[in-house]
Amino acid sequence: MQAILCHRYGPASHLEPTEVPVPEVLPGRILVRVRAASVNAYDWHRVLGEPYFVRLVDGFRGPKNPGVGADVAGVVEAVGEGVTETRPGDEVFGMSVGTFAEAVLVSRDAVVAKPANLSFEQAAAIPLAATTALQGLRDKGRLRAGERVLVHGAAGGVGHFAVQIAKALGGHVTATTSAAGLDLVRTLGADEVIDYGREDFTQLGRRFDLILDVLDMEGAAFTDAASQRRHDFAGQLFHSLMDAARRRCRVALDGQKGLGHRDGMGRIQKPRSRSRSQDLDSSDLV
Ligand SMILES: NC(=O)c1ccc[n+]([C@@H]2O[C@H](COP(=O)([O-])OP(=O)(O)OC[C@H]3O[C@@H](n4cnc5c(N)ncnc54)[C@H](OP(=O)(O)O)[C@@H]3O)[C@@H](O)[C@H]2O)c1
Repeated sequence: MQAILCHRYGPASHLEPTEVPVPEVLPGRILVRVRAASVNAYDWHRVLGEPYFVRLVDGFRGPKNPGVGADVAGVVEAVGEGVTETRPGDEVFGMSVGTFAEAVLVSRDAVVAKPANLSFEQAAAIPLAATTALQGLRDKGRLRAGERVLVHGAAGGVGHFAVQIAKALGGHVTATTSAAGLDLVRTLGADEVIDYGREDFTQLGRRFDLILDVLDMEGAAFTDAASQRRHDFAGQLFHSLMDAARRRCRVALDGQKGLGHRDGMGRIQKPRSRSRSQDLDSSDLV
């Protein structure tokens, strides 16, 4: 099969479809025939090896695991010993390493059944961004029904899931977006929407129980160089993927809005003591 591999850090132009063996099906793992994969900021960080702390985890010269791509949707081809919840032929989506390939091995607890009303491309756009939003709001932020939550950067990959998840958890959602995202964010259920091009939410005197900041506020304005490199990466990766597609390596781009923004996972602010009602505003962002 073909897979896009990254053996050294650098621009996406050096990524090439490579002929590799189909992974051996291991106990507790599922072999998924890839129908769609999506591109996240995470992939950009892993391929570039930036910020540098990525290399502490992934390897100093290049990624220890050269597979690229984290999100996947596809069809189960084979299951390893002990896997009972899914079987060959099932349509699934989830996360792994090396999803820009014709097939990928996925841990049994990292995939779920794909709803029939989602296309493979739609399903592949969900896992990493939505899980990040879910972890931020539910696990770290411990959002409770009735609480007021600000989603800063609500029209992006993480943010547009965060708005929907916050509403599903019963939150009262205020969302920031550019003018282009106003309709989208309202449609997703935000109770209040702030056009960051017209209003600075830090000056509005609003109070929140939880702030999910998917932007790096200090770096909200990209430096020209950083911005250029991000777009170069996106363009180069797009060409690599198209090249792969031409060579029958079935990789589809997802519907995510962008490739992310600088480093980090965004910030979550919430009062430490849950017994005390202590509002947050922008000055609490650190
Ligand atoms: N995507 C993932 O799976 C994932 C996973 C873990 C961590 N992260 C991290 O999360 C961060 C965001 O990733 P993402 O994928 O959501 O990026 P993204 O799709 O590029 O979204 C960022 C959003 O920020 C908005 N924005 C830019 N400047 C703003 C401002 N001044 N005020 C309010 N909103 C502003 C943009 O909105 P407009 O389009 O309206 O301008 C854009 O939609 C990145 O640091 C990334 O590394 C992402």
